[in-house]
This record gives sequence, C-alpha cells and structure tokens, in this order.
Amino acid sequence: MKTPGKTMIGRDQIQKRVEELGREITEDFQGREIDVVGVLNGAFIFLADLVRQLPYTCKVHLVRAKSYRATSQSETIDLEALPDLKGREVLLVEDILDSGKTLSVIMDKINQMNPKSLKTCVLLEKTGPDREVLRADFRGFLVEDVWVVGYGLDMDENYRNLPYIAELV
Ligand code: IMP
Ligand code: MG
Repeated sequence: MKTPGKTMIGRDQIQKRVEELGREITEDFQGREIDVVGVLNGAFIFLADLVRQLPYTCKVHLVRAKSYRATSQSETIDLEALPDLKGREVLLVEDILDSGKTLSVIMDKINQMNPKSLKTCVLLEKTGPDREVLRADFRGFLVEDVWVVGYGLDMDENYRNLPYIAELV
C-alpha cells in the first residue's frame, strides 16, 4: 500500500505562501466584496487558512465536487448549496488543478449565473504537457505530476489531516 513519503512542501512554506496569496488577492480585489467559493472536500483546510488572510468583508460558500480516486475521474458536482452569484465578484478556491476538468465544470455552472467576475485560486497546480488548458489566476505552488496528499488533499479520504504536503510513494 502506498503511504506519504518525505515532506514535499512543509508547514511553514505553506503558511508563508498562503499569506502571500492573501496579499495578492487583497491587492487584486481592491476592497471590493468577494464571494469566495470553496470546493469540498479537498480545499477545506486551504480555504480556512486563505480567508483568514483577507482583511475585507467576504462571503464564504462551499460546493461539493466528488474527487476521483487515483485515475478514474468523476465530475459529480453538487451546486445546490450555492446562492445566486449574479453580479457578484467570485473567487473559486480549489486544492489542486490537474487536468482542469473539475474547475472548468464548476466555472461553467457559476458563469451561467452571470457573475460580475470569476477568478480562480488553487493551492497546487500540476505541471505537464496536457495541463495547459486552464490556469488559475492565483496559484500557491507548481508540483510535478505525482499524487500528493496532506493539507486537505487525500487518497481515498486518508491523509487530509497531514499538516504538510507529501508525495504518496
Ligand atoms: P482535475 O479535474 O483533473 O483538475 O482534478 C482535480 C481534482 O482531482 C482535485 O479537486 C482533487 O480532488 C483531485 N486530485 C488531482 N490530483 C490530486 C492529487 O495529487 N492528490 C489529491 N487529489 C488530487
Ligand atoms: Mg478536490
């Protein structure tokens, strides 16, 4: 069975980068009210840390996307919990951008509500030749195309509680 290997991105490194992302987002939105939409389950820890770096009023919503296990991908997205985002400035927060499918499905649904703007923030983005389709507006770290766990990211619902990010080996 595969288990988390040595630390790839440490706790302090994550915290520092999340603080920087908070500043980038704050500067970009210039005090305008943001509707932050976090994608469950993977983004729950990143989302919690990130919104605490935003100094202005913001609303926080959650949307559930069923993550795929290893290779079999699922695009089951439950958007019922979302309010009407018409005319709102939306920041979509996801744990990791791989093929970009999950994010683009959610973005399509949000765009159907005619938000004023829609931007994306991901903690991690996988590099690779087939992953140039969709790039996040705000990104924490670029990672190699390996399976990573920790800080919210899982393998079969395990390892989300690790305070750092590691490759599953
Ligand atoms: P995409 O739709 O291919 O971009 O895949 C993104 C989704 O797959 C994320 O929301 C994660 O839930 C999951 N995912 C992709 N790569 C990893 C990984 O390395 N570790 C944990 N989850 C991952
Ligand atoms: Mg996810």
